[in-house]
Amino acid sequence: MNTFKAVTGQPMDRVDGVAKVTGQARYAGEYPEQGLLYGSVVSSTIASGRVVQIDTDEALSVPGVLLVLDHRNRPRLSSYDDDYSDADSAEGSPFRPLYNDRVLYSGQPLALVVAQTQEIARYAGSLVHIRYEEDAHQTDLGAALDASHEAPAETPEPRGDFAQGYAESATQVDVTYTTPVEHHNPMEPHASTVFYRPDGSLEIHDKTQGTQNCQDYLHKIFDVPKDKIRILAAFVGGAFGSGLRPQYQLPLAVMAALTLKRSVRVTLTRQQMFTFGYRPRTSQRLRLGADGEGRLLAIGHDAIGQTSRFEDFTEHLVEWSGMLYRCDNVALSYRLVPLDVYTPLDMRAPGAASGVIALEGALDELACAAGIDPVALRRINFADSNGNEGKPYSSKALLECYDQGAERFGWSKRNPVPRSMREGKELVGWGMAGGVWEAMQMKASAKASIDASGKLTVSSATTDIGTGTYTVMTQIAADAVGVLPSDVTFLLGDSSLPTAPLQGGSFTVSSVGSAVRQACLILRTQILEALRKSHPDVADVPVERVRFGDGHVLVEDRRFSIAEVVAGCEGAALQAQVDAEPSAKRSSFSTATHSAVFVEVRVDEALGTVRVSRVVSAVAAGRVINPKTARSQLLGGVVWGLGMALQEETLTDHGLGRFMNHSLAEYHVPVHADIGDIDAFFVEEHDDVVNELGSKGVGEIGIVGVAAAVSNAVYHATGKRVRDFPITLDKLL
Ligand code: MOS
Repeated sequence: MNTFKAVTGQPMDRVDGVAKVTGQARYAGEYPEQGLLYGSVVSSTIASGRVVQIDTDEALSVPGVLLVLDHRNRPRLSSYDDDYSDADSAEGSPFRPLYNDRVLYSGQPLALVVAQTQEIARYAGSLVHIRYEEDAHQTDLGAALDASHEAPAETPEPRGDFAQGYAESATQVDVTYTTPVEHHNPMEPHASTVFYRPDGSLEIHDKTQGTQNCQDYLHKIFDVPKDKIRILAAFVGGAFGSGLRPQYQLPLAVMAALTLKRSVRVTLTRQQMFTFGYRPRTSQRLRLGADGEGRLLAIGHDAIGQTSRFEDFTEHLVEWSGMLYRCDNVALSYRLVPLDVYTPLDMRAPGAASGVIALEGALDELACAAGIDPVALRRINFADSNGNEGKPYSSKALLECYDQGAERFGWSKRNPVPRSMREGKELVGWGMAGGVWEAMQMKASAKASIDASGKLTVSSATTDIGTGTYTVMTQIAADAVGVLPSDVTFLLGDSSLPTAPLQGGSFTVSSVGSAVRQACLILRTQILEALRKSHPDVADVPVERVRFGDGHVLVEDRRFSIAEVVAGCEGAALQAQVDAEPSAKRSSFSTATHSAVFVEVRVDEALGTVRVSRVVSAVAAGRVINPKTARSQLLGGVVWGLGMALQEETLTDHGLGRFMNHSLAEYHVPVHADIGDIDAFFVEEHDDVVNELGSKGVGEIGIVGVAAAVSNAVYHATGKRVRDFPITLDKLL
């Protein structure tokens, strides 16, 4: 029997690639309209206190300025904290823009100038004069560690007896790693274009990872009916978590539109991209103890993170230390220090990217102290169940990651002695680390319909933040119905489409992909039913002898065009909608993605400069829907991990309580010249538990472990252990 070639598993080009590279793809701040107004945000210059006076006369006298909004004249808002919550809120009272005269952090929006052009608005913003009554502030986590309190999120209960296991260990490591504040810095700054329609409804193009999250948020804070708010996000120029919560430009643009009954756009400047969420600074103490063979007898991970005074931001910072390796005596703790700053926000592999730095750095230190090869040490302590949950992993091809990664890297040729691999004036170092991320699945809905020309349209309110969602959903849909990908249109980024979760956590393929597949499989059943009705001669052929593909139904040796079958149906179309639940098989398993990262660094001994010449990243993430877009996610993660290791750090002037290097000139990220050879690949991993696609998601795992691997390589090269990230040259000299 003829079989059709599946498009899932193929490295298909992005379906939106041409639109993007030719500039036809429009981003939130690019939608035009005659008479559109522009808002510019005026930000606070103090970190804590009260606004005593806002003088807007001079700004209002600029020709072309229509309005200056501040806390005194903004439209009516909901008065309760809870109404400002959203699907990714932290515990506490969400920030309420222009709510009152309180200044809670430096960079807080205090006024919005609305004018006929962006330039006029921005200029007039410089003429808004604000007088403050300043309070003392604290923005320095390092100086305020005593003020920490228990994080409200659960951390796993201690198991076994850490103190005893640690005391009995032949080798002990007790080290503290610190990581800095980092900012997401997507290429596309946050922007909202609010089209005000004559009936008072709002059609909003927003930079977001959750169209329906923004719709709910606006509905609650402005008391505008949901059916009068439509949020669109056709294209998103990177987000990495920065678009998980509605950002303040959105309510500000809506305030202006509702006040003026006009369409308004508010775009944040690059500097203002540093005035909301970020990856929080952390301080993490790791205590590891092992017996003479390197078996872990005790793991202690005590972390402190920063948060704002109004919300308790938590992330999974220490969980990884209780689940990646087998150990009976584990104690994890996590505390928060509230500071006069904005609330942190999930940022690519939130918690794991920074927590695993400490765990995998400490493990390298244990390997050195015990005289065991770092890969061997990890193999000895491999866990096939998650100790935090007491459940087996649905799959965990981490040993294959170690093997294949080490093989490709040439790890067996490593001389374990630090400073032993010099080449000319460069010290060469080889280091490695493991990585882990959750493989989650959320509820999601999708709709599929097919018409008489055989064109399949599938939709869900999810977004595509650059990850390739349009493309992989097209592939999943094409295979599930049996049509060519060129006959599939996938619609997303629209709050009016079937319900989808935020795009985050690496769970979009798992969640939305499963819904898409289910809706398309129902369509396939409907097509077969229609065929059996129109062709009684094939009605009795059992479904096992029917194939779908290339736009055709193959019944034994007879071929029928799907388009013709649909054309014969009532209404000449078929459609199906599904609300998909997380797979029932998941409940008795733990599900996660894993990686092994190998890094070569070259350190100039005289200058302290570190160059990463090679990276090998082996990843186990279940079935890969699109090897091309999935590998792109890994590459992006690896590059970002190099930035975490060596460059990225948002510096605060604690005297002023504000970020200083708030621009891409001074906030350093890796550029092409910083990137050496990256070999990122997937090992085979079969998993029929995680979800019906067997696919675990790849958005986050690429970054996890990279910074630790660099750090471990730097130690191997130099003999110097830098535990304060990023590893800048001053720390190596
Ligand atoms: Mo990602 S931090 O889950 O957007």
